[in-house]
Amino acid sequence: MTEPVVHVISHPLVQHKLTLMRQKDLSTSSFRRMLGEIAMLMAYEVTRDMPTKLIEVETPLEKMMGPVIEGRKTVFVVIMRAGAGFLEGMLEVVPGARVGHIGLYRDPKSLVAVEYYFKMPSDMHERDAIVLDPMLATGNSAVAAVERLKETHPRSIRFVSLLAAPEGLRHFHQHHPDVPVYTASIDRELNDHGYIVPGLGDAGDRIFGTK
Ligand code: URA
Repeated sequence: MTEPVVHVISHPLVQHKLTLMRQKDLSTSSFRRMLGEIAMLMAYEVTRDMPTKLIEVETPLEKMMGPVIEGRKTVFVVIMRAGAGFLEGMLEVVPGARVGHIGLYRDPKSLVAVEYYFKMPSDMHERDAIVLDPMLATGNSAVAAVERLKETHPRSIRFVSLLAAPEGLRHFHQHHPDVPVYTASIDRELNDHGYIVPGLGDAGDRIFGTK
């Protein structure tokens, strides 16, 4: 049985920006900018063991073989809509990656995830999938998204969230113990409405200014 893995990214730059993002009066533009910056920083951790290949380059002094990332093998899988806020920063770091989208909405009564959109690039079996959703709350969307993604047989799957609730992490790893989670914080708990506490509120509303 695979031991579930959770990486908490404790780098001071990530923690600093996350604390600022939690402030309820932060403007939409600052929230979005900081999410992009954190996404770039988290991308370093998530891609740490990414496959590379050697290419020949010519320095001013001589030819050499140097490693470059096989960017086309990575697919970022955005869980709409809040996952989109993570995408730009990730693509800054891995510009050659492909992008897939999964549309799920939370039924407000049952909190269960319902799929309304699914589009992945071809040849998923050759790709390493990095699933993006800033909030791992109940875990229902994350479980459903990864279940659906597994039907396309990617080479590997990682899940990246800015914040996670302990309940959501447990639920996620009960269903997907093979999928490592990368997060900047495991917050205290979920409230009765399925929000992460202390959290930062509704990530989608804060990214897109829709409150
Ligand atoms: N989704 C959010 O945007 N925020 C939460 O706290 C939980 C789920």
